[in-house]
Amino acid sequence: MLNGKNILIGITGGIAAYKICELIRMYKRNGANVRVVCTPNALNFVTKLTLQNLSQNEVGVDEFDIAQFKPEHISYADEADIMLIAPATANTIGKIANGICDNLLTSVACAFSKPIIIAPAMNCGMWNNNFVEENISKLQAKGIYILEPEEGFLACGYEGKGRLCDLNKIYEKTVEILSLQKNLSGKKIVITAGGTIEEIDSVRYISNYSSGKMGIALADTAYEQGADVILITSVDTQKPYGVIKIKSAEDLKNAVENEYDSADCIIMAAAVADYRAKNIADHKLKKDETSDSFTLELVKNPDILQELCKKRDKVLCGQNLSDRKNNKPLIVGFCAESENLIENAKSKIEKKGCDYLIANDISRKDIGFSSDYNEVTILDKTGSAKKLERAAKTKIARQIFREIYG
Ligand code: PMT
Repeated sequence: MLNGKNILIGITGGIAAYKICELIRMYKRNGANVRVVCTPNALNFVTKLTLQNLSQNEVGVDEFDIAQFKPEHISYADEADIMLIAPATANTIGKIANGICDNLLTSVACAFSKPIIIAPAMNCGMWNNNFVEENISKLQAKGIYILEPEEGFLACGYEGKGRLCDLNKIYEKTVEILSLQKNLSGKKIVITAGGTIEEIDSVRYISNYSSGKMGIALADTAYEQGADVILITSVDTQKPYGVIKIKSAEDLKNAVENEYDSADCIIMAAAVADYRAKNIADHKLKKDETSDSFTLELVKNPDILQELCKKRDKVLCGQNLSDRKNNKPLIVGFCAESENLIENAKSKIEKKGCDYLIANDISRKDIGFSSDYNEVTILDKTGSAKKLERAAKTKIARQIFREIYG
């Protein structure tokens, strides 16, 4: 099941470290190539020789023990398809959540851009500590998978939540994530993100509170799952896939249209302004001392999503039935509503003509605009609706792809 997969295991200094020996065997038995990095404290619980024998690979501990040209933390991060940190102590969790890189394991985790699973194990008091809770939430918000510890008798003598979760659970999660990874390979996915910026004069503009987080989470997920990704966004961001920087709705329209022919799927998560200033002054507009009011004339922006759907449907109409099997591109819109979410979303999907419409309630502060979290309902053309409960945007993004691509 894991043939050809490269799994990197990070072991930290907790008593459950000995259990990872069995996990290495489970991965190896199923065809994976396993590499191990340890914190120096992990070696108080399990020996390097044991891990080396089981993984049949060199075990990394010292960041500056550089065998090749590439720094060790980069080569470990480049080579692996997934990283598992188990058992993860409160100390290592805190460091990773705060970007601290003071040993090989934490440096690799910081450089790692593919999926990470963390399986914590610690004393129950430590697990319930507020700082640990906050660090766990931070990691979840960044899309790191957390496999929570289990209740039971702990090595420290306490009874409570803190035992490393069952090894089968870790194994199954690894297989599940890796099987998702190449789901989108061979597909070109174009995603828009962030609010558009409509200039008024040389120093002022109209925009909205969209941070781009939802669209970027979708783009990261699509990339993680093997797609060829183009992100069209007003947000400054550096990614290992194509990013096209835009400002206005018109820029966004041009950029999407340029990608249209080669796209398998277009996802419009950007918050596009419905109106723009009729005239953009090339200088700073002066305050009118003779009047208490100021009138700015706005004109409608094109409805890009609706136009894309019309264009696609027109092409499909002109094709005979056998060609129509390839219903390309799949077009997915978002729907930002502050009232009557589902009712308005239903009429919006009909009006715009997209294949899926993802509705979110932007009146809530704990989801939607700028939040790390979202709660959405996915509507399809047939009128069916599926709610995805509140979760980190990265998790919602994975669920969205599961819904639309199976
Ligand atoms: O960026 P975040 O802070 O993470 O917030 C995410 C989000 C709330 C912005 C996102 O989840 C979202 O809802 N995006 C769509 C916002 C929006 O413009 O919704 P709308 O209901 O006004 O538009 C419906 C759809 O038409 C959208 O897909 C939009 O991209 C598209 N549209 C809108 C206007 C326009 N002139 N052209 C368009 O293509």
